[in-house]
Amino acid sequence: MKNFDVLQNCDPYDLIRLYGSPLYVYNEQIIRRKCQEVKHLLTMPNYMVNYSAKANSNLYLLKIINDEGLAVDAMSPGEIFVELKAGFSPDRILFISNNVSREEFRDAINAEVKISVDSLSQLKLYGSLNPGGEVFIRFNPGVGAGHHAKVITGGKNTKFGVDQKFIPQIREILAKYKLNLIGINQHIGSHFDDAQDYLASVKALLNIAKQFTTIKYIDFGGGFGLPHSDGSKSLDLKELSIGLEQILQNETENLQNQVTFMVEPGRFIVAESGILLGTVHSVKTNYNKKYIGTDIGFNTFLRPTLYNAKHEIVVFTDSKAKEQVAVVGNICETGDILAKDIILPTIKENDVIAILNAGAYGYSMCSNYNNRLRPAEVLIDKHGNHKLIRRRDELKDLVNNYDF
Ligand code: LLP
Repeated sequence: MKNFDVLQNCDPYDLIRLYGSPLYVYNEQIIRRKCQEVKHLLTMPNYMVNYSAKANSNLYLLKIINDEGLAVDAMSPGEIFVELKAGFSPDRILFISNNVSREEFRDAINAEVKISVDSLSQLKLYGSLNPGGEVFIRFNPGVGAGHHAKVITGGKNTKFGVDQKFIPQIREILAKYKLNLIGINQHIGSHFDDAQDYLASVKALLNIAKQFTTIKYIDFGGGFGLPHSDGSKSLDLKELSIGLEQILQNETENLQNQVTFMVEPGRFIVAESGILLGTVHSVKTNYNKKYIGTDIGFNTFLRPTLYNAKHEIVVFTDSKAKEQVAVVGNICETGDILAKDIILPTIKENDVIAILNAGAYGYSMCSNYNNRLRPAEVLIDKHGNHKLIRRRDELKDLVNNYDF
């Protein structure tokens, strides 16, 4: 799939004239196609997909994903709130809590969503609030993988999951509060390239599952890597699907119940469905280096600054000549760089550019740093028509929280 299909026949200059710059643009057909792809990763009936909403929790995208029949995870009461608004029924929301307060647990219990806890102390707190209730526990399978150390969430160097050596203590807490352990879950990290890492963690989690008799759900997590723009080795989805199917056929005979197996991708569903359009406001040379100054600061798109993430950049221009430039944003920090040394067609002021694969962890990581306004989001629907799905911040939004 060419990322460019996102715009269908819409003109980026028209979109920016209509909705302002910068602008996130998503494509409904691509989201639906990706949902179907992951739904067909396994052929067994006892298989379900949780979309990991932290990748993009726009209400309209959640409605599309709900309509495709995916369930959803939530990391916070805010995500639960928006997911309920999008129409997910509570039993199809898994709150994967991490270091949450008593009040946050209470709200999730009242909302009747499924709840996963991430430490012995949180299991005790949850048990004291919901004795006799159902619970998931997030384990750390001892395996981690991902595109950057900051997003590896399994293995020895992460705060996430419970070490399986604590299973005896888990049993005591479950018994004390008469909790019913209905599920276990894990997530090894984000954007991994090697299917074998995931498969190793699947085996590890199944071994943990065999030690409990009450489990009905096993959630192996997400993190499925996408192709890299430089063509370097990326995840072989076929290898993942075949390997997973084999393990689930061969290694689950000792499980006590009919278990539903879950995967939990975020990026895989939405990254390729979105691009970020921006406008070039200045072109300058500083000590022999050419800088393309855009309105896409790291408040609008954080991934290059935070993880050194590489995103392809397209310039909408007729220019044929090329040159090496640095593409930067409008934030008051030297690290506000979208691409350091990139060869692009010669760019002039007012040209529009697009950051590709920006549908995941783009808008969801936006901020108002420097009191900049978060951009609007637009959807190209299945008929090829564009519509606003979230308005751009206005200046008044910057003072909303002083109303007390
Ligand atoms: N499940 C859990 C429990 C997670 O923590 C995550 C991501 C996922 C599923 C989905 O992972 P995905 O399929 O999207 O890779 N901001 C970073 C990614 C952080 C992901 C954190 N957890 C980035 O822009 O690369």
